[in-house]
Order: sequence, then C-alpha cells, then structure tokens
Amino acid sequence: MSSPANPAPTIGVFDSGFGGLTVLRALIDRMPGARFAFIGDTARLPYGSKSRRTIARYAVESAQFLVREQGAEFLVIACNTASALALDAIQDAVPVPVLGVIEPGASAARAASRTGDVLVIATDATVQSHAYAEACRAQGMRALEKACPLLVPLVEEGWTSHPVTAEVIGIYLDELNTEAAAHNLHADTLVLGCTHYPLLRPLIERVIARVGPSGMQVIDSAEAAAEAAVRLFNGRVAPTATGTAQPTEIRCFATDSVEKFERLGSRFLGRPVGHVELVDLGG
Ligand code: DGL
Repeated sequence: MSSPANPAPTIGVFDSGFGGLTVLRALIDRMPGARFAFIGDTARLPYGSKSRRTIARYAVESAQFLVREQGAEFLVIACNTASALALDAIQDAVPVPVLGVIEPGASAARAASRTGDVLVIATDATVQSHAYAEACRAQGMRALEKACPLLVPLVEEGWTSHPVTAEVIGIYLDELNTEAAAHNLHADTLVLGCTHYPLLRPLIERVIARVGPSGMQVIDSAEAAAEAAVRLFNGRVAPTATGTAQPTEIRCFATDSVEKFERLGSRFLGRPVGHVELVDLGG
C-alpha cells in the first residue's frame, strides 16, 4: 500500500522473532527509500523446534497480517524455518509474490562453490525438512545439513563473541567436518541457514580458521535473500531506481514484549529499531 508521502509499495518482512531483522537490514541497505512492514512472532518463538503444521499455521497468520492489515504487496519470509516448512502454505494463503530465503541461499552457494559440495547449518526443523539439501540438489550440488540448536539462544543472550559460543561452534563444525569426510564430500562453502547466524559470522570464520577446512567460504542467507529481493522487486519498490529520493519507512510489529524487541532488535538491525507495535494474532 503506497502513501502520498512515499509512493513505493510496502514490502512485508516476516520472522518468528527479531532475528529476521538481519534480512531487513540487508534489504534496507539495498533498497533505500522503500517502505517496510516487519512482523516478529515473538510470542510463539522459537519455530525451529516445532512441527511443520504448527509452523505453517503461525507463519500464514503473520503473512496475512502483513498483506491484509499493512497492505504489503510483496512478502519476504526472513525466517529460514518458515521458508523451509511453510513457503507453499504462505504462497497459497496470500495473493502477493512471496520470497523465501532457502532458494537464494542455495543459489549463492552455487555461485560460490567450486567443488559443488556445501555444508548447511540451521535449526532442527529446517534440517529435518531437508529444504536446503533439496534446493542444492536442484542446482547440481551435494549438501550436508546440521542442526545447531544451541546457537539461537546464545545469540539472543548476546554471547556473539563469547568463548563458550566459540567452543560450541567448534564442536558443531568438528562433527560436521567428520560427517562430511565420511560422506566423501569436499565442501568448500558453508551456508548460514538461520536468521541468527549472521551475528556469529566473525566468530564462525575464526573457528573455521582453526578447525578447517581452509578456504571455506561462508554464505549469509540474509544477504542472499536481499539480493534476490532486489532482483525480483526492483523498479517496483526502490524509489532510488526511479530517481525519486524518499526516506526509508519501517514499521515494526511484535506479538509479545515490545520492550524486549526494541532492546534486542537493534543488535540484529544494526541501528535502533524505534517504536515497535504490539499485535495479537491469537493463540
Ligand atoms: N528465525 C529462525 C530461523 O531462521 C530461528 C529462530 C527460531 O527458531 O524461531 O530458522
């Protein structure tokens, strides 16, 4: 929905919580002057340990809120778990184009990998769905996925450079490397398949330098999704592309404590989130 102040259509961005602000941040960097409505379903977070049926129900409610109540004309599903398990359900439920993060992540891996073998770290639900493995296979690659359930709470605790977090990452990557060797994979690319992991990227890169394999490239699915969104939406949503300079507009909604969202969200957005509005999507 455009407004007299800003003629650009609204891009709706959805996540299970505030981790998806990493995707919003990447979108803002690439689409200055666009209008964004972001909802974090913080009341029902985490999605990463829930079933497909529950994730789809929750995600559809948020998507419908963005389209019906905020007039979003495009949706970006920032949540890897919702993209992996509920993209079809969301696309069926709303009459606007919907972009998830899995395909862009796989495409970025395809562009980066020389061996065609990639590693993916993500939530338990994303890994169980094998959405990344399938997306990689469709692009001619082999992918090995690993659930890293301890990383989301560590990031939310703010322990993004803590030695305990480095230790945990080291254990996960060691296990992944052992498994990759057992499968005779020559992986040269690691996909960060969760909204929270971009905040761990410097630490992950330091750990890779220690445990190997050397030369491993790290793909941030938030950046990859933002690139794909620009390709899909540009011209229609980026006023800079049409020569008009509008201020970027951002409205943030959360389904639970707006104070916590405002406090923690700025870490993910890289700037103050500002005023967050509470919204009730039901149980
Ligand atoms: N947003 C989720 C994802 O990207 C991580 C947090 C959660 O489990 O809800 O997979």
